[in-house]
Amino acid sequence: MVPGNEIINSKELNEIKKIFTKSDGVLFAHGFDKRRGKIFRVREFEKKISKSFGSKYVQCVSSGTAAIKIALKSLGVKPGDEVITQSFNFIATIEAIIDCGAKPIITGINNDLNMPVEDLSKLITKKTKAIILVHMLGYSAEIDKIQKFCKQKKIPLIEDNCEAVGATFKGKQLGTLSDIGIFSFDFGKTITTGEGGCLLTNNKKKFLYFKRYHDHGHKLLKGIPRGIDNADMPGFNYRMTELQAAVGISQIQKLNFILSESKKRFLAMENILKDKVYLRKIYKRSKPNYDTLIFKVDNYKKRKKIVKYLNNVGIGTKNLPDAIKWHFAFFWKHAIANDQIKNTLASKKILEKFIAVPILLKKSIKHYEKISLDLLKLI
Ligand SMILES: Cc1ncc(COP(=O)(O)O)c(C=O)c1O
Repeated sequence: MVPGNEIINSKELNEIKKIFTKSDGVLFAHGFDKRRGKIFRVREFEKKISKSFGSKYVQCVSSGTAAIKIALKSLGVKPGDEVITQSFNFIATIEAIIDCGAKPIITGINNDLNMPVEDLSKLITKKTKAIILVHMLGYSAEIDKIQKFCKQKKIPLIEDNCEAVGATFKGKQLGTLSDIGIFSFDFGKTITTGEGGCLLTNNKKKFLYFKRYHDHGHKLLKGIPRGIDNADMPGFNYRMTELQAAVGISQIQKLNFILSESKKRFLAMENILKDKVYLRKIYKRSKPNYDTLIFKVDNYKKRKKIVKYLNNVGIGTKNLPDAIKWHFAFFWKHAIANDQIKNTLASKKILEKFIAVPILLKKSIKHYEKISLDLLKLI
């Protein structure tokens, strides 16, 4: 989740400068047509995302959290409804569900830290309005099974792909394999705009809803100035600025570099550890975005030693275990009903055995090899 911010440089600055040199400092994505010339940076960024990821429509917004909320709104999620998501997660999905007035229903995780399709069969009710599957830490979840289930039950599927931008399944980008895909571009993500996110869909009707809802419900009538382009549906302000998009335009051009450099470091570790350690499973025909290498250590004392070692060598551990409170529903009693917290107890036993090593571009491949050899002595 980190590489984008590690390689931010004058290229991003140059893209921002264009707003001032070519577009008279228009920082807003909408209107000001004469003043801005033909420069629309957010629209340009959306086109690049659409092309790079193979999604027909893309709507950029102010954050990944906002994108999830907009997705739920577009599906008509309202008070009294239920939305199913998973215990290993980020609180944004839960917040978006409760912001729509709905109840978060929580699945456990399987031994590879993903949403088990079997749990969905148990938790689905007449009130279930959507399922949010989260591809955690750069690895693909069992998207094919979940997708099949959702199709059979006619329940819309949202793919929260905030943590796995660039990862694929059967050659297709994660985030494009469901009704709505969600990306985050916050400062800890694969590519960053500081804050920001987007929704991906192939459905024109949904796209038009995103477009209107994120911008106060404007009708967006062609040729009508914004000031008199009324709204006829409630919306909100979840707009992205031109400044964010300018950074994104530069970052997306670095995505292939980020993925290939991350992969080299990931494989260097994997090659050394694979015969001695249980590595989190990469599902057949899926490719991670290689930004985190995750492995299991059953022994508590060994785990403690390994975490201490990783902190000492300046790598740290990502989410597992360092930020587990931000990534595990067991700790979100303020937002989740007690009857759902109990579904997380089995996940706790699985999650606490895993260690997540962040792949940083500023650390060399040699550094990762050395770390892996040291880890072998501690395992
Ligand atoms: C899985 C997941 N979903 C959603 C989000 C929310 O994204 P943002 O920070 O852009 O609101 C994050 C961010 O950490 C995340 O990891």
